[in-house]
Amino acid sequence: MTKQVTLTIDGQQATVPEGTLIVNAAKQIGIDIPVFCYHPKMEPVGMCRQCLVEVGRPVVDRATGQAVMDGDKPKIGFGPKLETACTTPVSEGMVVLSQSEKARASQKEILEFLLTSHPLDCPVCDKGGECPLQNLTMAYGPSGSRFIFDEKHHAEKHVALDDKIWLDRERCIQCARCIRFQEAVAGEPVLAFYQRGRDTDIITGSEPPFDSIFSGNTTDICPVGALTTADFRFGARPWEMKAAASICPLCPVGCNITFNTRREAKSGGKVVIKRVLPRQNEGVNEIWMCDRGRFDWRFVERDDRLAKPMVKKNGRLEAASWKKVVDEASEKLRSKKGEVVVLASGRLFNEDLFNLKQLADGLGGEALLYDSLPGGQLTTNFGVSAGTNLGDLGKGSTIVVAASDLYHEAPIWHLRVKQAAERGAALVIVNAEATRLDKYAGQLVRCKKGEAAKKVKELAGVFKNAENLVVFFGADGSFALAEACAELVKGRTGRPNNGLVGVWPRANDQGALEIGFKPAGDLAKSLKGKTVYVVAADPAGDDPKLAEALKSAKSVIVQNIFLTETAKLADVVLPAQAFTEREGSYTSGERRVQRFYPATPPLGESKADYAITALIAAELGLEVEGRSAGLVMEALAAAVPAFAGLSFGKLAEVREQWPIIGRADLYYGGASYQNSQGLGVHLNS
Ligand code: SF4
Ligand code: SF4
Ligand code: FES
Repeated sequence: MTKQVTLTIDGQQATVPEGTLIVNAAKQIGIDIPVFCYHPKMEPVGMCRQCLVEVGRPVVDRATGQAVMDGDKPKIGFGPKLETACTTPVSEGMVVLSQSEKARASQKEILEFLLTSHPLDCPVCDKGGECPLQNLTMAYGPSGSRFIFDEKHHAEKHVALDDKIWLDRERCIQCARCIRFQEAVAGEPVLAFYQRGRDTDIITGSEPPFDSIFSGNTTDICPVGALTTADFRFGARPWEMKAAASICPLCPVGCNITFNTRREAKSGGKVVIKRVLPRQNEGVNEIWMCDRGRFDWRFVERDDRLAKPMVKKNGRLEAASWKKVVDEASEKLRSKKGEVVVLASGRLFNEDLFNLKQLADGLGGEALLYDSLPGGQLTTNFGVSAGTNLGDLGKGSTIVVAASDLYHEAPIWHLRVKQAAERGAALVIVNAEATRLDKYAGQLVRCKKGEAAKKVKELAGVFKNAENLVVFFGADGSFALAEACAELVKGRTGRPNNGLVGVWPRANDQGALEIGFKPAGDLAKSLKGKTVYVVAADPAGDDPKLAEALKSAKSVIVQNIFLTETAKLADVVLPAQAFTEREGSYTSGERRVQRFYPATPPLGESKADYAITALIAAELGLEVEGRSAGLVMEALAAAVPAFAGLSFGKLAEVREQWPIIGRADLYYGGASYQNSQGLGVHLNS
């Protein structure tokens, strides 16, 4: 166990592990020491001097080596100079004064100095209202300046670093947080300082510029409005927006996110999403997210969103009432045993998939998972066990990544695996092509496409003695790869930080497999002559052969958020709500079930997928819960052993995480949201 040391900060006692930095020890007992360059996820550099405090240590008699006493207490000696709280580790008996006259004077002077060259364009700055410089100036800064306004430094404003991120040079306080994030956290050192003194500038040195899928995170941790996103610039003020907790639906990582929304006149009085920020979950995405998750959610606002139910009349889709479409759909599904195929994708949520599976079972039909990886069933048996946290992997652990490019397929897993390798985990990569993770691998096996399984088998002996073993597998087109990967982790079931992870094409493929959906296999053959209920998938748009197969189906019912090519072929079209408009839960590739909440009102007459299926099932005399997502989760937990014990209440549970971040102290961790809506729960093994 790490040795604990006890110290006093501003009169309060703190007991923390040896090596803790003063700034973090203070945070743990609720004392905020102002910082700019320090960030709890990066090594300290002591550049800005904002965190200067008085530090005293017990005086030791050199002759005896004993503490010198002052009455019944050890005598404390204060050095002549202030020390930076962000670089100084605590020691036994230390006394820290962050509010003394000397410390406050220095904190004030640093702010005065930073403001000598700051444009003070707070009224038009995107960071206004959530700006550490603004907040710390109010709390610690001077009320006036001795510097001459006309001598402020001026630079070209609004420089596009790339098409996503903008730089305002005048606002930069040269804390280097952005540069250090790119170098140390993202592992992509594409930003740098250029020039000296007041001319110091942030530049990007990559081609294409700012070549990083994590670039948006720099705008969260920039303590001023120097870095902003093209997506949100001049979009809204922070205090005008509401926050809704959600889960990113774009890959199987399941990053915790927050939607900021606003009801606005320019959108016709509608509530609209203005931006997405990460939400802290140290077991999933820490306080980061990738640019895809941050910027690619606007599909929910597309013009081809379905807002009304429709039925086909004389070869044309026409708007109809919900009663009419539910009648029509149930009439078509009322067919002979074995004639119904429910085809759904992992874009759906646990509650929707469970209801669809019940419908398929009730009708004696098949529930097929659209367009996933071969071998999915194996992760329900050998998937990573409860308690797994990639953040715990380090020395003694082995991570295998086979036939997957995590950087593009599941970017935050790329970050987490990279960090585990930096902590000492052995990383083995087996892939046909080079990936950005390769440079962290201890063993790199380049194989031909489709041959990853054979290579994984050859390496099996290497992993036998690993304390922990996590195996990521992607698409090399064969079931054999999943089988070979499963073979590696057999016998480790139930052990945290051990097991398989499928790098699925969609966010909830794992949930679909756990609920009992089967990989689709030869889909064209399965669809011919059947009554097909296609949900959240567009096979006709993806593959002309599947379009032909659907044309030869007996009837087609489509439930989607868009008027897809498949929907155009359908007899009945059922408009579903987007994930931003409803609640539900996903199961991530790490088998963690996580809950999301509505951010905006639903579009038109659309309904949640689980509710639509329940309406159809009721018409067919089947008992399927559809009153709320929470009640469907209860039914799911009662029916599927992996989900046993889960409820929306459990999924909403939180506990304290480190670093402590919050909206009141944005300077500490950045603009990420604190997680008060649920850290998620692993499925049972
Ligand atoms: S752009 Fe922001 S994060 Fe980067 S050095 Fe300047 S102030 Fe710091
Ligand atoms: S890593 Fe995946 S889940 Fe996380 S933000 Fe990116 S796309 Fe979304
Ligand atoms: S020197 Fe400590 S926060 Fe910058």
